[in-house]
Amino acid sequence: MMLELTDVKKSFAEPDGGELPILDIDRFSLGPGEQMVLVGRSGCGKSTLLHVISGISRPDSGHVRVGEWDITLFTEPECDRFRAEQIGYVFQNFNLLPGFSALENVLLGMRFAGGRTDRSRAKHLLDRVGLGHRMSHKPTQLSVGEQQRVSVARALANRPRLLLADEPTANVDSGHQQQVIDLLRDTCREENVALLIVTHTPEVAEQFERIDNLEDFNRAVVK
Ligand SMILES: Nc1ncnc2c1ncn2[C@@H]1O[C@H](COP(=O)(O)OP(=O)(O)OP(=O)(O)O)[C@@H](O)[C@H]1O
Ligand SMILES: [Mg+2]
Repeated sequence: MMLELTDVKKSFAEPDGGELPILDIDRFSLGPGEQMVLVGRSGCGKSTLLHVISGISRPDSGHVRVGEWDITLFTEPECDRFRAEQIGYVFQNFNLLPGFSALENVLLGMRFAGGRTDRSRAKHLLDRVGLGHRMSHKPTQLSVGEQQRVSVARALANRPRLLLADEPTANVDSGHQQQVIDLLRDTCREENVALLIVTHTPEVAEQFERIDNLEDFNRAVVK
């Protein structure tokens, strides 16, 4: 397995001091190079699950195995380094670095992973999302959909083993939607990267063989 979660629980402190269970997952796994879509109502815990899978946040209990590593045993710096090296992440809110151009943001994705910065790969990825003409624009000079496409290119930059994409097409038109999905799927297929996409868009979801609804396997969901 490329990814395997066992007995994962995660709750958050409620604003009034109580405790709110968000995730309670017995088992969830993804094979090497497998591609899937995760769906489920707004608020059911999809982004929280991606944070736990990538080590951005820690589960309260349980184990998250990525490749041969149990990331719940890592220290926080180890987790950050592991994520930079092994995981590509398209954030729901992009998380681009504001002081850097589109091309620099993609190159930094490689630098953080400790690899060599491959300018031709970075440019190729930006080209593939239709941003060949916007490489030196900074995030504030890009449209929202353009920023989203830079974040897709950045997530692929470091040749990850696992790619997590949180609503990667939420802000683009249908033409760019297909461009983004094709780039993610083709690159992941070519480089044997496991791909997990969260989406609310039926035209995106229906292209995948495996569609899991988090509400079906998350016991913490209030029905
Ligand atoms: N830091 C936090 N503190 C308290 N509650 C939180 C925190 N983060 C998330 N939650 C709660 O956890 C629930 C799940 O949030 P999450 O962002 O995972 O939902 P989602 O499925 O990604 O929704 P959407 O489709 O709208 O993006 C929400 O009800 C939210 O209020
Ligand atoms: Mg979300």
